[in-house]
Formats: sequence, structure tokens, C-alpha cells
Amino acid sequence: MTSPLRLGIAGLGTVGVGVVRILRQQAKLLEARAGRPIEIVAISARTRDKDRGVNLSPYDWEDDPVALARRDDVDVLVELMGGSDGPAKAATEAALAAGKHVVTANKAMLAHHGQALADRAEANGCALRFEGAVAGGIPVVKTLMEGLAGNGMTRVMGVMNGTCNYILTRMQDAGLTYEEAFAEADALGFLEADPELDVGGIDAGHKLAILAALAFGTRCDFDAVELEGIGAITIEDIRQAADMGYRIKLLGVAQMTGRGLEQRMSPCLVPAASPLGQLEGGTNMVVLEGDAVEQIVLRGPGAGEGPTASAVMGDVMDIARGLRLPVFGQPAGTLAAARPANSTVPAAYYLRLQLIDKPGALAKITAILGDAGVSIDRMRQYGHQDTSAPVLIVTHKTTRADLNTALAAVRETDVVLADPVAIRIEEV
Ligand code: HSE
Repeated sequence: MTSPLRLGIAGLGTVGVGVVRILRQQAKLLEARAGRPIEIVAISARTRDKDRGVNLSPYDWEDDPVALARRDDVDVLVELMGGSDGPAKAATEAALAAGKHVVTANKAMLAHHGQALADRAEANGCALRFEGAVAGGIPVVKTLMEGLAGNGMTRVMGVMNGTCNYILTRMQDAGLTYEEAFAEADALGFLEADPELDVGGIDAGHKLAILAALAFGTRCDFDAVELEGIGAITIEDIRQAADMGYRIKLLGVAQMTGRGLEQRMSPCLVPAASPLGQLEGGTNMVVLEGDAVEQIVLRGPGAGEGPTASAVMGDVMDIARGLRLPVFGQPAGTLAAARPANSTVPAAYYLRLQLIDKPGALAKITAILGDAGVSIDRMRQYGHQDTSAPVLIVTHKTTRADLNTALAAVRETDVVLADPVAIRIEEV
């Protein structure tokens, strides 16, 4: 019999339990496909005495995940604790230092320390795999690293935070305010312990930084991701966007431009009829564009026990089969630091302004836009209240820099009653 692949699992939350379940329920299938048994040797979690709904008694227990990672009888550390630093990073580093492979679903750790960990893994001849870190059950890492390896990638886009997509969809479909939809997501247990990770775009930004490194052969650089969350989106914006044939999505976009690598995670308007526009609820979608393949769209569950465990198991199976790939698709030493570029690609923008309803107010705004070189495509004044006039403007394509110049001047006028809302319209 071929020797078994022996796993140490650190972290027994939703995903960890899902991985244990698959390994128990599908042992024969996995062995047949890998050509060798895959066994759990030892486990570790914060709390030992907790009913997790799965029999963990056959496995050795380790209080310390670093000790788990160093065990002689562990071939692969499966790190499912989460957190960019702390025990997750310590255990991962210990495993790699001991020459063991690591499978992780930890997007924060990869986004912040991906390069250093890749350097270490490759220097020690270890695999470091992270399919579960990006878009849950969607095998997007594998698609980029293997299926699309023959392409020069041109753009990567994604809706990669299911919680935000759920909130925005509920606002759209049920007419809920942001606060009501947020409360509903909270009650359903969708929000991370720190909700800002979700609604601030940070979780999705981590995922984008990882995909950008894979797509463009660059060092993972989360600090260069322009982040904007969904907290400022109002039901009014959702309705107006819908009226013009758009949906608002928290969309990640990474593309290499003449000026450098653009990475942004921000609310965008996308056509309602596009695959991204039709994405409902907590589902994720990744759109990959390459010079040969043109465009492909991957859609699926972005979180949850089964989907994320499925992604983790795909990595475990590759290691069991002996597949060894560079961590980010090319040797870590050849990944170049990309010059960060902030929204240099021009786009049309949706603007919503609350103006004082008096003669010349609108003229002041249009003059400012004109002076900044921002041209108006469409404009509408609607739903007058006593003294205020809501105004919608869709611009022609402009740079974010020119738009920012205009918005700064708009804020200085005596005709705006609230901070202007500006949302990019992404061509998808
Ligand atoms: N909180 C994430 C989401 C799942 O809502 O998609 C884990 O990244």
C-alpha cells in the first residue's frame, strides 16, 4: 500500500469541521482518486470540550497549533484558524520550517504575508496552497494557475464577499435600508466577528490582492488595494441605479495599466443584465479576462462549511497526488513588486447630489464639472422636497483624479446640502 498522507488540522470552526466530515465520509473515494489514503493524525482548536457534531475522538489533540505543525507524524498542516498573524502565522511558519506542506483558507494571512510565506515554502520545497482563501467553493486559484496558465491576464474582477452582496441584494429586492439589511445579515450569522471586514471591503480586498498576484505575476500587495466599503450606499442609490438599468455591487477589479497595477475594491454600478448584475444573495462571482481565452465567468458559493471545505480538500488532494506548483504560479523569487496605480483607467460615474432649490444652483455644479474636464452624459432632477433638489448625473468617461478635483470644488460651494455620492460605472 502507498503511504498515507497524514494531516494535522488546526482550527475546528465551520470549515475545519467540514474538512473532517469530508475526510470521514469520502475516505474511499479520496483514496481511490489520490492513490493513497488520507488520514487525520491530530487536531487543534481554541476550545477542546465543545460538541462540534462530529466524532473527533480518534485524533490526537494538541493545545498548541505550533506543536501540531511540528509533529513528526504530520505531513500537511491544514490551517483553518484565520487571522493575519498570531497562531495561524506561527503555525504556518513552523510547518514550513519543518519541511511540511501547508493548506490554508486564510486570506488575511496570505494578503499580508503571502510573499514571505511563499519564499519560505519554496526554499524548503514545500507546497503552500490556499484555494479556500478566495471565493469559497469556486476553484479560481486553480483556474488561474493551471487552466489559464497560457494567457496573459488582462483583468480580474469579482464579487467576493457574500455578506455585502446579500445586503445589497436585500436592499434592491425588498426595499430595505442599509441598516435593516445589515441587521438581517447579522441575525443570519453572516457577518464576520468584526463586521468592518465585510462591509468595509477588507475581506474582499484580501481576496483581490491574492488574485492580482496570481494573475499578474506580482508580489501580493494588499496595502495597494484602494478600499471603499458599502456603508454609504443608500436605498436611493440602489433605486436610481436600477431605474437606469444598473445594479450596485461591491466589485473588485485588478488590471495592469501603463502606469502600474490598479487594484480596487469598491461599490460599482454594473449593467443589470450582466452576469455580475444578476448575481443574487450570498453567492460569489469571479470574471477572468485573458488575451487568449477572452472572458470566463465563475459563479458559486463564497463561504460556508461544504463549499470552503471542498476548496481545501482540492488542495489536499493535489498534495496527495504529488502535484507541486509555485505558490503564486511562478517561482516566488521572480514575482516583481508592481507599481501601484490608483484608478487610472477612465470610467463613467454616477453622481447623486442634494442641491439647494434656488436659481443657479445646478448651473454652478455643471460649470464646476466642465471646468474640471468632466463631461455630462445624462442628468435628471427628481423628487423635489421643500428646499432641496436631488440631482442625478451620469458622466462620460473621466479619470478619478479629474472627478475628485470637481467634487472637491462642489463641496466648497454654498449649494450642496450633503456630501456628493460618486459611484463608478464599470464596463463588464
Ligand atoms: N465573510 C465572507 C463573506 C466569507 O461574506 O463572503 C469569508 O471570506
